[in-house]
Amino acid sequence: MAISTKIAGIGHYVPEHEVTNNDLTKYMDTSDEWIRERTGIQSRRYAKKHENTTTTLGAEAAKIAIERAGIKKEDVDFIIFATLSPDYYFPGCGVLLQRELGITNTEVGALDIRNQCSGFIYGLSVADQFIKTGMYKNILLVGAEMHSMGLDFSTEGRGVTVIFGDGAGAVILQPTEKENQGILTTHLHSDGTHAEELAFINPGSHGGYHGDREKYGFPSEDKPGGIYMTQTMLDNDLIYPNMNGQLVFKNAVKKFPEVIMEALNKTGYSTTDLAMLIPHQANLRIAGFVQKLLKLRDDQVYNNIHKYGNTTAASIPIALSEAWEKKLIKEGDLVCLAAFGSGFTWGSALLHW
Ligand code: UT7
Repeated sequence: MAISTKIAGIGHYVPEHEVTNNDLTKYMDTSDEWIRERTGIQSRRYAKKHENTTTTLGAEAAKIAIERAGIKKEDVDFIIFATLSPDYYFPGCGVLLQRELGITNTEVGALDIRNQCSGFIYGLSVADQFIKTGMYKNILLVGAEMHSMGLDFSTEGRGVTVIFGDGAGAVILQPTEKENQGILTTHLHSDGTHAEELAFINPGSHGGYHGDREKYGFPSEDKPGGIYMTQTMLDNDLIYPNMNGQLVFKNAVKKFPEVIMEALNKTGYSTTDLAMLIPHQANLRIAGFVQKLLKLRDDQVYNNIHKYGNTTAASIPIALSEAWEKKLIKEGDLVCLAAFGSGFTWGSALLHW
């Protein structure tokens, strides 16, 4: 009997503190109407500075996933942590999560994934290979973000800031030999052509971006880069992410359907077989476009961006966990996960729940 990888336990955690669109109008020139119309977002959650970090958010979700999988934290044999907002520049959140959960076994490996919006899909694909080869039996995969610590709350940052929120989701992955259970296929893609179009490039070894300096706000004479934060970066406000929203949008609406169909075609299924599509929660308009193009019914697509905004690596596991809690996904259901974002990187996973 062939071994495949099943999601044995799932959980999510979002901070209590809700920030509405109207709350943001206190800091920047924006409106509830603009944000709702362009993104579908009504509110997002922000974690508490000093009390939380990306790792502690991830740990809350991980504890739930571990409990629901019916295992103990000591049973976890590998950790994969996907985030773009890590606690530290280095080391990564994987080892911090190990410590936070009190996992003292040094046989446990900890891997960090830096694939932004598609980080969870990439993590799932990596975990799937490890499980199928028999190397690990209980992989903890976490996607978590604490965006609120890295956003520009002035009007200049509104194009990025209004979209993002904090949160975490986690799964425990185990081998299964059951028919109609587990991951059927994963598909990973990348195209670095537009790497800087959705990016946070400082600090970094580039030592100053030499391309379109004006566009990214660099002073023309200076080289403000460096692996560590410098005074020049601070003086020039080079401390926030930038996004070419329209370019990302155009690519997203093309790549989402492609990568979903790639997974369905590979396995011989069609869109009508799908019980649930969980798209990365980037923008409700993107999800709506994909749904329409693939002719999916409302009950075949799960969205929760209105409540949480875009939580990047956390968005798919949070949505999957919520959909499962609401009993919208049941055993044997065909579920597709798909993401597109910074890099650009994108991917999909098709599984039987
Ligand atoms: O998960 C990560 C991947 N990211 C994405 O998938 C994002 C994809 N892109 C998007 O979701 C959309 O492009 C955005 C929601 C980011 C922006 O929507 P848009 O319809 O593309 O707006 P825009 O950037 O073309 O801006 C239109 C106008 C501009 O004003 P002018 O130049 O027309 O006067 C902006 O300055 O809206 C202005 N604007 C805002 N106004 C109020 C931009 N952000 C805001 C804001 N509030 N927050």
